[in-house]
Amino acid sequence: MKIESGQESKKAGYKVPFGTVSVTDKARRLIDEALDTKWVTKGKYVKEFEEKFAALFGVKYGVAVSSGTDADALACAALYDFGAKRGDEVIVPALSFVATGNAVFQAGLTPVFVDVKRETLNIDPDKIEACITPRTRAIMPVHLMGKPADMEKILTIAGKHNLQVIEDAAEAHGAEYRGRKIGAIGNMACFSLYAAHIVTTIEGGMIITDCEKTAEVLRSLRNHGMTGKFTFERIGFSAKMN
Ligand SMILES: Cc1ncc(COP(=O)(O)O)c(C=O)c1O
Repeated sequence: MKIESGQESKKAGYKVPFGTVSVTDKARRLIDEALDTKWVTKGKYVKEFEEKFAALFGVKYGVAVSSGTDADALACAALYDFGAKRGDEVIVPALSFVATGNAVFQAGLTPVFVDVKRETLNIDPDKIEACITPRTRAIMPVHLMGKPADMEKILTIAGKHNLQVIEDAAEAHGAEYRGRKIGAIGNMACFSLYAAHIVTTIEGGMIITDCEKTAEVLRSLRNHGMTGKFTFERIGFSAKMN
């Protein structure tokens, strides 16, 4: 991964950079500032980033984490606070980057793979219902390569079976579906901020949600399951953003 400064990308007279990371002069200044304060994790800029990211999608809460995979895993693990039991099932597309399925396992749940449509390479909504069992807790569509999944059909199925919808939007920052922003449609949406993705913190991820309880659970999950000062209420991860 080649890293370029803001000055260099300006000199190159860019259109759309691909496979490069632009670190602007402003970003360098803010990183220096954060290092100088010696507050280098979960600091004020992380909070500001969460608020501004969520606002872009018109949702209330953003929870910044260490990677897109952590975003997926924490979103799945949040399901325990809504009645899921270990080993319960999450429906995912049979075609995605490996992180989607891995994250379900990392959360202690079971991915159930549903075939994709040849025309879109996204999950085939007409094949979802046949895969729903009494242990299904969520559907996790992936908006593969920036193409939105068929959210209308997915929401209808989820509503009918009382399932949560977790959008894996790791590859789809800024995509729109029928006039609505991808990420603002399901109960939670997960973004990767890895160096090869559309918006990057080099390594990082973000979960957005409109649900206050979900945001609270996600904040606890990224910090070892902590709630108050050294009170640990659930099995957590260490997935904070620096
Ligand atoms: C669809 C999808 N989900 C999840 C991830 C995981 O993101 P990260 O690499 O930040 O862990 C990726 C990343 O590459 C992805 O393409």
